[in-house]
Amino acid sequence: MIEMLDPKTLTVFVTGATSGIGAAVCRRFALAGGRVIATGRREDRLRALKDELGEACHVAPLDVRDRAAVERTVAGLPEPFRRVNVVVANAGHGLGGDVAQKADIADWEDMVATNINGVLYTVHALLPGMLERDEGHIVLVGSIAGDYAYPGSNVYGGTKAFVKQFALGLRGDLLGANVRVTNIEPGMTETDFMLVRYRGDAAQKAKVYEGIQPMRPEDVAETIFWSCTLPRHVNINRLQMMPVMQAFGPIAAKRNP
Ligand SMILES: NC(=O)c1ccc[n+]([C@@H]2O[C@H](COP(=O)([O-])OP(=O)(O)OC[C@H]3O[C@@H](n4cnc5c(N)ncnc54)[C@H](OP(=O)(O)O)[C@@H]3O)[C@@H](O)[C@H]2O)c1
Repeated sequence: MIEMLDPKTLTVFVTGATSGIGAAVCRRFALAGGRVIATGRREDRLRALKDELGEACHVAPLDVRDRAAVERTVAGLPEPFRRVNVVVANAGHGLGGDVAQKADIADWEDMVATNINGVLYTVHALLPGMLERDEGHIVLVGSIAGDYAYPGSNVYGGTKAFVKQFALGLRGDLLGANVRVTNIEPGMTETDFMLVRYRGDAAQKAKVYEGIQPMRPEDVAETIFWSCTLPRHVNINRLQMMPVMQAFGPIAAKRNP
């Protein structure tokens, strides 16, 4: 038997905690005795999470596209939430999902601002404290879309490929520091992700999951929790996960009639 890290020693900063994977991550760590800082834009949802998790949870409204706001939030963390030793940079979305020739440029800009800049601002604000205390773990939430292209994955897949490469780059930079870096790369997970993609159209969301058992946000949260509670000398670099009912298709070819 190996001795796992005591989750009670963990203070976890989570972006995108108002829904889906981020909310499940907050619940998993808080229920195991850790402290969580739950952030996101929807304040009613943050308040509900705070009501549910109580003293283990500090909430802070935050738009990760706003660098100054991210820096202010991290600098202003109250006791006993100041010594963050895990960050789960999870906030993100895949807007539109149209092929490039039909896509809205504003959606592309928002995905870059949220999925790339938001991750950079979050990591940059929290890394110095981790280095100072010589203890930390950066968890990024990538996607299988960072590895496998499909029609409509254009910019979303590009942002997640960036996240994967950024995680690997951080690993290289942080060699010798006691800071772990992990990129968790989920496939189909039933959250509000598709609702956001299709701008609130529940019927279109339902169609995506028709006849399939997708992963639940709790499945991904459990994997993140596991990677964060492994003994300190172990680093999961990348971890790709999918529902059993999802796999790869062939490379497409357009044939002449
Ligand atoms: N579901 C999947 O199939 C799947 C697969 C692979 C990867 N992922 C990734 O998993 C992560 C979480 O997504 P999810 O599936 O849990 O979807 P979700 O239920 O829609 O949650 C997305 C979260 O991101 C937050 N967010 C979006 N824009 C934000 C901003 N500008 N500032 C702060 N927070 C922001 C949302 O909060 P507010 O709107 O309240 O700000 C929400 O809490 C994303 O990075 C996504 O790309 C999902």
